[in-house]
Amino acid sequence: MVIKAERGKIKREYLKQAGEIIRQGGLVAFPTETVYGLGGDALNPHSSEKIYEAKGRPSDNPLIVHICAMEDLEKIVKDVPEEAYRLAEAFWPGPLTMIFQKKDCVPAQTTGGLDTVAVRMPNHDLALEFIQASGGFIAAPSANRSGRPSPTMAEHVYEDLKGKIEMILDGGEVGIGLESTIVDMTVSPPVILRPGYINEQMLRQVLEQVEMDRGLLPDQGTLHPKAPGMKYRHYAPRAEMMLVEGKEKIAAEKIIELADQEEMQGKRVGIISCEEHKNWYLEHLKKESHPLEILKIAGSLKQEETIAHNLYRILREFDEEKAEVIFSEVFETPTMGTAIMNRLRKAAGQKIIKC
Ligand code: TXA
Ligand code: MG
Repeated sequence: MVIKAERGKIKREYLKQAGEIIRQGGLVAFPTETVYGLGGDALNPHSSEKIYEAKGRPSDNPLIVHICAMEDLEKIVKDVPEEAYRLAEAFWPGPLTMIFQKKDCVPAQTTGGLDTVAVRMPNHDLALEFIQASGGFIAAPSANRSGRPSPTMAEHVYEDLKGKIEMILDGGEVGIGLESTIVDMTVSPPVILRPGYINEQMLRQVLEQVEMDRGLLPDQGTLHPKAPGMKYRHYAPRAEMMLVEGKEKIAAEKIIELADQEEMQGKRVGIISCEEHKNWYLEHLKKESHPLEILKIAGSLKQEETIAHNLYRILREFDEEKAEVIFSEVFETPTMGTAIMNRLRKAAGQKIIKC
């Protein structure tokens, strides 16, 4: 059942119904400011098992527990360091997930067998109301089938999970479009396990020290990232994908050359560019009478949040159009570049052509 929010609001009766579904061990997908989540009761082991089943996700990959009130944090975690309160003060509700030692009330099924638990308070009215209506603790991974790009619209959730979950709360398109930043607070100094909208620099304004998990650095392909989920080839389109890195026009020319080669072999090609470079591709496509739809514009380098916002939707569109090979520019933008490139590299299975 898909329930649409009218101007961001859902009728009381539907929220109540969503809460009932969760209390009875069912699953409800809901919007957050990052991506849609697939929610179940975080304190009910059977709900977490159902989440893994619906997503087709390996059960060693822990879930994030979503809360709606600060006083709920200490009900599920122990040893909250003073730095965590400072981060919460600065960024909650918001796209920041923190990892703590868990209390016994959080079942091992929710944490993939770990002694730690990831917690976040989303910055989204409907999400907060839903969490409250459900008893306060919602375990939610992104609401996609495992291996597919995270959903940024209710339609994406429907595509992936119809028939597998009881309800979808449709709050329209999400704002940010990439998953939250994850910071491990069980170590000192805290470590960033997944880059997101809240970047290292923003964290440094609150913490004296913070480190980046070395497994996340681009040239450390052999090290395993510490967040279990980061080791899977996530966020992936069905097509083979390659990133092309080089000085602007040189990279564009390389992409055009590679795309032409693949086309000649009869492959369905896709290209991802930014707004600023699109004319280079369009000129070539027109000259060669190639279909212009193979070019998708991620967004503008000058408004990098547009790139984060559009990325997953574009990858899904290429799936629908049955693209077989996708070439993408790289977007090393100042604020969200680390997060955007982390997702793009994963979508491309780390395949990067440097020119
Ligand atoms: O923005 C988000 O965080 C979205 C929305 C729905 O809130 N959720 C999300 O969840 O992205 P998911 O399950 O797709 O990603 C959770 C990540 C995984 O990489 C998982 O391994 C990591 O968080 N994680 C969860 N608990 C952890 C823990 N205790 N220790 C280390 N990593 C953990
Ligand atoms: Mg996910």
